[in-house]
Amino acid sequence: MRPTIRPARAADATELVGLDELCFGATAWSADAWADEFDRLSEDRVVLVADQGAIAGYVVLLLPPVVEDVVEVLRIAVAPDARRTGIGGQLMTTVLERCAGRTVLLEVAAGNESARGLYAGFGFAEISRRRGYYGGGEDAVIMRWQEEAWNKSL
Ligand SMILES: CC(C)(COP(=O)(O)OP(=O)(O)OC[C@H]1O[C@@H](n2cnc3c(N)ncnc32)[C@H](O)[C@@H]1OP(=O)(O)O)[C@@H](O)C(=O)NCCC(=O)NCCS
Repeated sequence: MRPTIRPARAADATELVGLDELCFGATAWSADAWADEFDRLSEDRVVLVADQGAIAGYVVLLLPPVVEDVVEVLRIAVAPDARRTGIGGQLMTTVLERCAGRTVLLEVAAGNESARGLYAGFGFAEISRRRGYYGGGEDAVIMRWQEEAWNKSL
């Protein structure tokens, strides 16, 4: 069954905190950090969840109302037991359909093969690096959406 992609509601907060811990461990966002994201929904944040009874994945977007301003994909994750079934792609598709004509950036750890594979499939290309940005000296890769490279037929 394909999950429904829908905006997050306040009632999802506890489930999102738990899923974020499961997906990110020590670098998960705290409950307070999630509360800040929810507080900004009316300003410049979009939080979407993949709902299949339970929340199977989510994406957090910085989407400034001024169209010239840069959009950023702040976070995307899928529950470990639901990965590689297309949910990450469903979330990215929903997000990028809202971003036509805009500059979209994101940052990813150089060694995060699954995320980099996902982003590359949507037309994101590396534009720069922050050397040794993460713990252990791993680089952060900055990627920019090349809208024309998004092959929607895939
Ligand atoms: C990155 C992530 C969100 C992908 O979600 P997903 O639901 O598994 O992705 P999909 O099933 O939609 O896969 C879409 C494409 O991404 C790429 N991809 C996904 N997982 C991959 C992996 N382990 N290795 C290589 N490519 C991968 C593939 O191109 C895949 O297409 P394919 O299955 O047709 O080959 C998921 O792996 C995840 O939650 N990772 C942990 C959290 C994280 O690191 N988030 C990103 C940093 S914020």
